[in-house]
Amino acid sequence: MSENILDRFKFDQESSEVDSTKKVKVGIIGTGWIAEAHAGCYKRCPDVEIVAVADIVPGKAEEFVKRKKLPETVRIYSSDRELIDNEPDIDAVSVCTYNRQHAPCTIYALEHGVNVLLEKPMCVTIEEAVDICRAEKKSGKILSIGFQPRCDENMKMVKKIVQSGELGQVYYIQTGGGRRKGIPTPFGTSFIEDETAGIGALADIGCYSLDMVLNAIGYPKPLTVTGYTSNFFGTNPATYPKHPEYAEKFGVDDFGAGFIRLEGGVILDFRIAWDMHLDTPGDTIIMGTKASMRIPSTECWNGSIGGPLKIYHDVAGEPVVTEIPMKHNEVENFDKKIRSFVDAVKYNGEAPVPSAEILYNQAIIDGIVRSAKEGKEITIEIPEI
Ligand SMILES: NC(=O)c1ccc[n+]([C@@H]2O[C@H](COP(=O)([O-])OP(=O)(O)OC[C@H]3O[C@@H](n4cnc5c(N)ncnc54)[C@H](O)[C@@H]3O)[C@@H](O)[C@H]2O)c1
Repeated sequence: MSENILDRFKFDQESSEVDSTKKVKVGIIGTGWIAEAHAGCYKRCPDVEIVAVADIVPGKAEEFVKRKKLPETVRIYSSDRELIDNEPDIDAVSVCTYNRQHAPCTIYALEHGVNVLLEKPMCVTIEEAVDICRAEKKSGKILSIGFQPRCDENMKMVKKIVQSGELGQVYYIQTGGGRRKGIPTPFGTSFIEDETAGIGALADIGCYSLDMVLNAIGYPKPLTVTGYTSNFFGTNPATYPKHPEYAEKFGVDDFGAGFIRLEGGVILDFRIAWDMHLDTPGDTIIMGTKASMRIPSTECWNGSIGGPLKIYHDVAGEPVVTEIPMKHNEVENFDKKIRSFVDAVKYNGEAPVPSAEILYNQAIIDGIVRSAKEGKEITIEIPEI
């Protein structure tokens, strides 16, 4: 995986001349919170036509179409399958369902020859991730996973520094993040119930911090994991003053940690929290034989960077610190994520965020859950795709 994934995000506002003679026909599956962002970004692409939307909650997709001011011609369906079965000419779908529905919706779309932009996390279990990758391979279609922080200029800088060799050989990484109070329940309980979410903080925001560092070092294969998960905050009614009943529904983790051995001898020390009595569980650090990098954490971890990167190295035998000024993003990361996917579909390009990489991300999350249950270190085994 030495290929530079960042080079795949070629979109830049000034030079982009979008050819809108041929429209890419897209559908949106799941019309909840994140579908709003997908619809908004697609609407800003002059070469995209949103032709259909689907949601299993009666009336929800209709309301979505009105709220997002989508054309009246948009066809509305009551499930992902109904949409796929009735839209033989559709080019692509955004899968914006809660986590438990990621695998079935993605596999069904791929099996019917439809390209997929799948929201993060990829899915819930490693078995699902393998099934998704196999369906993608068989279909020959494009599957990209929705990690918009990959498009961030500062995140690209993290990878650029690591790949330049400036740090020497990377041997130890600490990553993760968290929120002091941030169990996501603004629109109900789909993030916290087992039957909808399947995994909690580990997958929701943990997948971003794993992607930040794994992408930087070229996504080596994970070998073993020692994991821990807990749910002290999610199951406490005091966490939800307006909805104490949510505590009963809480069926996932609100904190997870893992110690992971990666191919090539790199150690990854990871922790993530939706809620904790602490401001941050620590900055991300990447330690190398020539230099180390500190990536400041943020208050509300969602895959962004909290301040200038710091490089600790020696100059003429003296220890010094070099600060890398923050870069400005000319275009919103979410717009870049959508644009890069649309371009891949339109020009039959490669997936901007390939499933083969996120398979390893999912394997670590799955490994932490399994190791926590078994109470011991486990070996990660990923079958051939
Ligand atoms: N990239 C980001 O920044 C970002 C931000 C928020 C959420 N997300 C991800 O997006 C996903 C959805 O999050 P959300 O907050 O929008 O959840 P949500 O619960 O608000 O919306 C999900 C919707 O999917 C619908 N749905 C479920 N199964 C379906 C099916 N088979 N066919 C049609 N509709 C179906 C539900 O009825 C619901 O309306 C999650 O996996 C989450 O991790 C990503």
